[in-house]
Amino acid sequence: MNSSKKPIRAAIVGTGFIAHEHIQAILKANDRIELIAAMEINETALHAFCETYGISNRYTDLETMLEETRPQLVHICTPPAIHYEIGVKCMRAGAWVWGEKPALGSLKEVDQIRKVEEETGTYFSSVYQWRFGSAGGHIKRLIQEEAMGKPLTGVSQTFWYRDADYYAVPWRGKWKTELGGASVSQGIHANDFFFWLMGDWNEVSAAVETLDRKIEVEDVLMAMVKFENGALGQILNSVLAPNRNESYLRLDLQKCTVECKHMYQYKNEDWIFSPKNDVSEEEVSRWRAIDGDQVGDHYAQLSYLLDCMEQGTRPSSSGDGLRSSIEFVTSLYKSAVTKSWVKRGSVVEGDPFYESFSGAH
Ligand SMILES: NC(=O)c1ccc[n+]([C@@H]2O[C@H](COP(=O)([O-])OP(=O)(O)OC[C@H]3O[C@@H](n4cnc5c(N)ncnc54)[C@H](O)[C@@H]3O)[C@@H](O)[C@H]2O)c1
Repeated sequence: MNSSKKPIRAAIVGTGFIAHEHIQAILKANDRIELIAAMEINETALHAFCETYGISNRYTDLETMLEETRPQLVHICTPPAIHYEIGVKCMRAGAWVWGEKPALGSLKEVDQIRKVEEETGTYFSSVYQWRFGSAGGHIKRLIQEEAMGKPLTGVSQTFWYRDADYYAVPWRGKWKTELGGASVSQGIHANDFFFWLMGDWNEVSAAVETLDRKIEVEDVLMAMVKFENGALGQILNSVLAPNRNESYLRLDLQKCTVECKHMYQYKNEDWIFSPKNDVSEEEVSRWRAIDGDQVGDHYAQLSYLLDCMEQGTRPSSSGDGLRSSIEFVTSLYKSAVTKSWVKRGSVVEGDPFYESFSGAH
């Protein structure tokens, strides 16, 4: 990095569980970014967090923090339903935003954010850290070049476990505050990554159920997906797997099966390439030769985001790159409620699902 460049001034809003991942990423990229403030409504949590990391600028009010510290980047680590309103305030104060998933709660919010981006010249990105690991980038390039042939079928499975204590946190398990269940809080990582690799999704048929947790939102999603390139996909997201928790991705291309089993962060060695018998050793070696060994974590995405800030370019996890995943969540819930296939582009203004994932408010 160019040492003459001043580090980007960043602030964290919300200092709970995931804020620690953000701060680790900031510390690792410390020649390019400095944390200048933290804001949190729970004063005890704020001080505990700031003591741990030696942060002196502590705020319980967002506007005051923005006015006094003028951050260039704000990491939103609060519960999901308030990402939009916090994001808009930060952008109007001149900051780019990096919002935890689900970054926004409806297509309406995505489209409104687009307008705020135009008005302010800032960008609002979602955390989708799995897109940024070395193996993910390598396989995406191979797929785009059709090196392994066209993608034909794919599977995205999230077998995680979340118990009653997890849902005892007041904002979890409710449409109004968590915005959705296994599809938006857990499966969103794998599903976004799946589409990012396979190509744009085109149509979805889904079922959501609440089988075993005392929550309003779903604890299981099952979905069938048609892709624009003609491929077909199958999705299962669950928070009920009592054992062998894992995320599993399988892509069957014309010349190779590519699989990855991991938990939270994949590494290069988690990827298995099983070629068709007539593919040469040399060709397979090229597919297996992943450049770099960066896991798909917050640091990987933050590094990319800082590149975008330095170059003034739109991050791929904003704009259309954010809308497509929010539209998928919207469409799967609409499909589950209406018991029909939902086509991409069909949920528009005036449709109750345009306003919220539940379609109910
Ligand atoms: N990317 C990932 O791998 C990952 C993993 C876990 C959680 N998340 C996401 O991160 C977000 C936060 O989840 P968490 O598990 O850290 O939750 P958490 O409950 O542990 O922390 C949220 C914090 O936000 C604070 N807060 C609430 N309202 C606020 C406001 N108006 N202004 C400032 N602070 C406010 C709360 O007091 C709390 O300390 C969610 O969107 C969640 O889905 C992402």
